[in-house]
Amino acid sequence: MGSPRSHGNTDILLETILEEAKTHGAWTQKIMLASAGITPCLECGGCDETGRCVLTDGMTPIYGMLMDADYIVVASPMFFYNITSYTQALVERAQACWMAKYILKKDRDKIKLKQGIFVSVGATKGKNLFNGSLLVMKYFFDAIDADFSGAILYKGVEKKGAIKEHPSAIDDAKIIGRQMAQGAELTISEQARNVFIKPV
Ligand SMILES: Cc1cc2nc3c(=O)[nH]c(=O)nc-3n(C[C@H](O)[C@H](O)[C@H](O)COP(=O)(O)O)c2cc1C
Repeated sequence: MGSPRSHGNTDILLETILEEAKTHGAWTQKIMLASAGITPCLECGGCDETGRCVLTDGMTPIYGMLMDADYIVVASPMFFYNITSYTQALVERAQACWMAKYILKKDRDKIKLKQGIFVSVGATKGKNLFNGSLLVMKYFFDAIDADFSGAILYKGVEKKGAIKEHPSAIDDAKIIGRQMAQGAELTISEQARNVFIKPV
């Protein structure tokens, strides 16, 4: 959860997904990135040798969680046409995973494939509002061996809780949660199709 605003729009969507998944038997874990204490990448080159990050901080336990999960939902509002800094710190720290995967080609036989979903909201209605972040998510999910399965993205949502007024958002989130609990390959609802952007 990459918004610093608890119980805000991103949080409502993510909670809806997680609650629905739990109701249908899934085990979920939510990480509040704003208080997780994740340092951005220092570009020290430490992971070049080992595929592991040299830092010990809030990210340390998250590496294992990312590797073990069946589904990873990254939820962030748009801040200046981007994911939030808290979310970006998580993304940057996946450099160690990228290094392990593409340069060191480490433990490839032990890799578990998973699915990645991106959830976002923004206040404006700009045509390209989510484009930059979709690219970031594409490369983040690739680095952690997650198939970028889908995104639910909502424009014109600003005030805290305004997402509840959206005609389909809560139902879209519930569908994702349910599908995750079923271990399904995610499909996005008809209603969400107009906001679903297939990554290029
Ligand atoms: C620092 C900051 C920057 C923002 N930049 C954008 C932006 O570039 N585009 C946009 O559509 N909304 C922008 N917003 C609005 C938020 O994305 C919007 O209010 C969203 O609903 C907040 O989600 P949350 O309740 O989950 O935090 C910005 C908000 C803040 C606080």
